[in-house]
Amino acid sequence: MITHKIAVIAGDGIGPEVIDEGIKVLEEVSRIDGAFKFEFTKYPWGCEYYKQTGKMMPENGIDILKNYDAIFLGAVGAPGVPDHISLWDLLLIIRKSFDQYVNLRPVKLLKGAPCPLKDANPENIDMIFVRENSEGEYAGSGSWLFKNKPNEVVIQDGVFSRKGCERIIRYAFELAKEKNKTLTSISKGNALNYSMVFWDQIFKEVSKDYPEVKTYSYLVDAASMFMVKDPKRFEIVVTSNLFGDILTDLGAAIAGGMGLAAGANLNPERTYPSMFEPIHGSAPDIAGKFISNPLATVWSASQMLDFFGHEEWSKKLLNIIEEMLVEKKVLTPDLGGNAKTYEVGNEVIRKLNA
Ligand code: NAD
Ligand code: IPM
Ligand code: MN
Repeated sequence: MITHKIAVIAGDGIGPEVIDEGIKVLEEVSRIDGAFKFEFTKYPWGCEYYKQTGKMMPENGIDILKNYDAIFLGAVGAPGVPDHISLWDLLLIIRKSFDQYVNLRPVKLLKGAPCPLKDANPENIDMIFVRENSEGEYAGSGSWLFKNKPNEVVIQDGVFSRKGCERIIRYAFELAKEKNKTLTSISKGNALNYSMVFWDQIFKEVSKDYPEVKTYSYLVDAASMFMVKDPKRFEIVVTSNLFGDILTDLGAAIAGGMGLAAGANLNPERTYPSMFEPIHGSAPDIAGKFISNPLATVWSASQMLDFFGHEEWSKKLLNIIEEMLVEKKVLTPDLGGNAKTYEVGNEVIRKLNA
């Protein structure tokens, strides 16, 4: 029997609501399969913990997490705790400490999912974003000089290393090659005359090793426009940390909404645990009412199953999500239904057993 040891950080707001459904679903999958099981350990870290202890997680939090096969995270952030503290001291520090340099985010319109674009259909919206997740605009480098003085100055550095750019671009090429898809790089070399010129140069260099992969390069402003006007142009997409963050919320908007948007933070070498999470935040506007959509979390659970080599179960979960979207019987309000968060989880489990 294989045991997958998972650290669970449900976090804040709707985090615990959606993560409970993700755990339920993973437990049921392993129960039905019988050849592997999950061992979940919950850590109560997040903004409540911060309010009590002054820290988002204990000093040795990273050491604790190091021993797990993966991390399953809900969402972080709550009114009353500055976002740059709550996110840096928990989510971002985990991504960085564990060198989870690949942020893999499917932007795939499933059948039955709502789409604000007219004439859109599932064949036309089927992308995978490969977002650089360890440096770039979110490197956390900069300074605040003469704070609170009339001459104060802030500097936020973009950090683009050769190693960092090469490895993410190479990962994207490998994925495009394996899936026989095109690869699009999104950058902004016309204005960011160091970082993005460098990014474009490395994209060209690495592309020489992959003559079989058809490539495109877009400026980020034009890419945003094309994602709305002509999304079928994009298959595999590689881009920087900031651009990937913004474009994947745009991607969520055209592929069913935040309640369906999943992501995996991968350390491909498997030296450290990878982390699976919905890409949405803690949604304080709806927290506590059990109307949050857990399907993004279930999709992230499907990514976890894939990462552990249980590809069939990963596909099965995605098919179930699609079936539920088509049937429109058990969906949360963001998708036009009136089901509660846990009812959606229960329906996934019912379908696993059908
Ligand atoms: P958000 O993603 O939390 O919410 C944006 C909108 O989408 C809200 O109207 C919300 O109700 C809706 N929404 C999000 N997830 C949903 C779901 N599963 N089902 C139904 N509706 C859903 O973004 P925000 O409001 O900009 O941020 C709120 C907090 O979350 C902030 O503190 C922010 O820093 C944090 N945040 C955390 C993460 C993370 O932990 N990964 C990601 C983004 C934002
Ligand atoms: C995301 C989030 C995070 C990010 C924030 C909360 C730091 O927006 O996962 O998309 O920008 O990476
Ligand atoms: Mn984001």
